[in-house]
Amino acid sequence: MAKVAVVTGSNKGIGYAIVRGLCKKFDGDVILTARDEGRGLEAVSLLQKEGLHPKFHQLDIEDQRSIDQLKEFLMQNYGGLDVLVNNAGRSFRMDAIEPFAEQAEVTVDTNYMGTLAVLETMLPILNNGARVVNMSSVLSSYAFRKSGAAKQKKMRDATCIENVTGLMNNFVQSAKNGVHEKEGWPSIGDYGQPAVYGVSKIGLSMLSPIIQKLLDDDNSRSDIVINACCPGYTATALTDYKGVNTIDEGADTPLYLVLLSPNVTQPRGQFVYNRKIEDWTTFEL
Ligand SMILES: NC(=O)c1ccc[n+]([C@@H]2O[C@H](COP(=O)([O-])OP(=O)(O)OC[C@H]3O[C@@H](n4cnc5c(N)ncnc54)[C@H](OP(=O)(O)O)[C@@H]3O)[C@@H](O)[C@H]2O)c1
Repeated sequence: MAKVAVVTGSNKGIGYAIVRGLCKKFDGDVILTARDEGRGLEAVSLLQKEGLHPKFHQLDIEDQRSIDQLKEFLMQNYGGLDVLVNNAGRSFRMDAIEPFAEQAEVTVDTNYMGTLAVLETMLPILNNGARVVNMSSVLSSYAFRKSGAAKQKKMRDATCIENVTGLMNNFVQSAKNGVHEKEGWPSIGDYGQPAVYGVSKIGLSMLSPIIQKLLDDDNSRSDIVINACCPGYTATALTDYKGVNTIDEGADTPLYLVLLSPNVTQPRGQFVYNRKIEDWTTFEL
């Protein structure tokens, strides 16, 4: 059976450029996914004009039925999954008027809970040699450093997915109760924006070593590697096109991570920026 790669939220932005790169470099089928079928098919047809041939499948990472349908499609047509890029994500605009608690819930639901739902559904069908990347952000590092010492310790001490999910739920719940600062969570990020996006990405930075260990402990499969990365400040809808990287530059590190050679020893379970392993808790640009 052919190998297969899936990129979430790839109808535009960095995900679209990752699909473009995979179509050129990955030896197998590449599935461009989008929550909206129309936007997804439009993106596929744009890439076809470049002579590339991604396939399309609908995927809303916040809809478990949609995730299950993709899994079913992958099992029926490919018998598993070889590359997974958890790229789909969102951020409120700097000038958003929605209350902090609402921004916290909506952002964590997509960036952390949605990504985790995809991971938990797809991890069991990853083939030997599979590569997974979660799109995190340097803003997770800034949000970590702005968190209280006790909260930082809880983050450092987390050993399982449930610990990470518990922290994300604690952030949302305490924001709703108006006590997130008292709980040790930051309100404002380093660039003056609400810290919700950075906190949601803390969850993704934390998951890499935890999931890598689960995969390493699974004796039934081998050479499966997961990493988190920051693509750098990239000009997309998410940044109001203010980023300095083009989408192809933003796609460089995630592409490097999913094309790592067989039996690679590093990076595994790490946070990577510009193809370099960084400690996400201390990393700054
Ligand atoms: N741009 C940067 O500077 C930067 C920096 C660090 C990290 N990142 C991360 O990189 C990733 C890509 O961001 P980007 O800058 O390329 O943003 P973007 O252009 O806004 O693209 C985001 C993509 O995610 C999709 N999406 C949102 N919610 C979804 C859901 N529930 N299910 C499926 N797809 C969903 C969007 O679909 P719709 O078109 O339907 O909305 C879109 O395709 C994100 O995880 C982001 O946090 C970006």
